[in-house]
Amino acid sequence: MSVFNTSRLLGKTILITGASGGIGAVSRAGYAATALLFAKAGSNLILLARRAEALQKVVNAVKAVQGSGRVAGVQLDVSDKAQVASLWDKVPQDLRNVDVLGTVGDIKPEDYESMFTTNVFGLIAMTQLLIKDFKERKSGHVINIGSVAGREPYVGASIYCATKHAVRAFSGSLMREVVDTPIRVTEIQPDLPEGMVETGFSVVRFRGDKSAADKVYEGLQPLVAEDIAEEIVWAASRPPHVNLAEVYVLPVNQASPTIAYRSGK
Ligand SMILES: NC(=O)c1ccc[n+]([C@@H]2O[C@H](COP(=O)([O-])OP(=O)(O)OC[C@H]3O[C@@H](n4cnc5c(N)ncnc54)[C@H](OP(=O)(O)O)[C@@H]3O)[C@@H](O)[C@H]2O)c1
Repeated sequence: MSVFNTSRLLGKTILITGASGGIGAVSRAGYAATALLFAKAGSNLILLARRAEALQKVVNAVKAVQGSGRVAGVQLDVSDKAQVASLWDKVPQDLRNVDVLGTVGDIKPEDYESMFTTNVFGLIAMTQLLIKDFKERKSGHVINIGSVAGREPYVGASIYCATKHAVRAFSGSLMREVVDTPIRVTEIQPDLPEGMVETGFSVVRFRGDKSAADKVYEGLQPLVAEDIAEEIVWAASRPPHVNLAEVYVLPVNQASPTIAYRSGK
């Protein structure tokens, strides 16, 4: 038996937003990320993203995993309140009892309003949709993807840092608000900006300039999507009395958002 016991996830239903790419799905490096790891643990999955074709690829990859549970892909923009409110109309009845909500946002550097709308308001809208149900069922786990940018502000990313500080404050307050319930709240804080997690994220950050994005990883072994996916699945599979409140994840040669050792530099 594996030391990393995921048997508690068997038959559980996991809802993942941002499931068509990066940490939520399959990284560009080809690593199996969050959706596939939950599938390997035998969980049912509701996968949300805006791009139908990319989402369908992940749904197909999940279906190909031996022992995976049921899976539904739903095209949805978390920044659109009406779409969030009508989510259950698009989810099969037998998948509506969600056990874990994993909210993986996105960034649009050129537009500070949409960055807040997706990273903060989208995450809050998804949490509000699920938390009522979690309270009624006296069970549930909210896993938010924050960032080191939510712990330490740095130059050149003021809006992104502001959104991730908001995610940290929201997650911390929520955990305190549900302290008298069995509901768990976890915030995973991946590395940024020196090392970064190698996903489509850095390409988005540099507005499609792949060579600028690749420079971010030069001389430093970055985290990959699977590293963060493992933390998400690890947090979700702990015994019900254990809550991993915050998980701060850095590459070994990085000590903070601005302190990193790059070989050859
Ligand atoms: N990669 C890093 O270095 C790093 C470091 C620290 C924190 N993070 C955080 O980790 C999270 C995921 O990052 P990532 O690297 O996996 O990013 P990514 O590769 O850009 O993937 C983002 C995912 O979110 C989906 N998405 C974006 N906007 C959406 C919306 N409005 N509604 C629904 N889905 C939406 C995208 O799919 P569609 O386009 O199909 O909607 C995609 O599946 C983000 O919160 C990011 O801030 C990443």
